[in-house]
Amino acid sequence: MRILVGYATGYGSTRSYAEVIGEELRQAGHETIVLEARQSRDIKDYDFVIIGGSIRAGNWLGPARNLARRAVELKKAHAIFFCCLSARSDEGKKTVVEDYFERVKGKVPGISPLEVGVFPGIANYEQYRFPVKQIMVGEGKDHGVDTSKNQDYRKLDDAREWARELNRLL
Ligand SMILES: Cc1cc2nc3c(=O)[nH]c(=O)nc-3n(C[C@H](O)[C@H](O)[C@H](O)COP(=O)(O)O)c2cc1C
Repeated sequence: MRILVGYATGYGSTRSYAEVIGEELRQAGHETIVLEARQSRDIKDYDFVIIGGSIRAGNWLGPARNLARRAVELKKAHAIFFCCLSARSDEGKKTVVEDYFERVKGKVPGISPLEVGVFPGIANYEQYRFPVKQIMVGEGKDHGVDTSKNQDYRKLDDAREWARELNRLL
């Protein structure tokens, strides 16, 4: 199969997930291209599209939504994944599915992913600028987090497993 993994990222966490998912699918024998979602408008030659994006204030990043709309428009079979800080806990993962994914469904009518991945990201305290820094540091401190350095919560092996599971469905 020819597969596109299109990702939307602010600081790179979602890209790292897209890359390991791409690696797994390549190992499974698929021709797999990993690209930024905003560079992925021409999707007609793919058999399957995977769309990943991180969350900002409860919303999936715009380029991920746009790529998902395009996949729906062209009736491409697709899977999606989210990368965010809520996904650090099982309770938070429920929020992603019940709240963030529901919002995506409202904004991308017809979206019907074969699988939905939910992966924890990075808190980029060292990169945030005002006023985002103020908000994120405040939120981190409320949870007892050391905000003097980035906090990496990623579980790249979970994404590898997710890709292997997805491959079994393709
Ligand atoms: C301005 C801002 C708002 C965010 N809002 C949320 C949120 O509502 N829920 C959440 O779970 N994570 C939120 N996050 C955390 C990001 O989704 C997380 O840091 C993710 O790893 C970023 O991935 P990226 O580098 O691919 O953009 C927010 C991050 C920023 C900078």
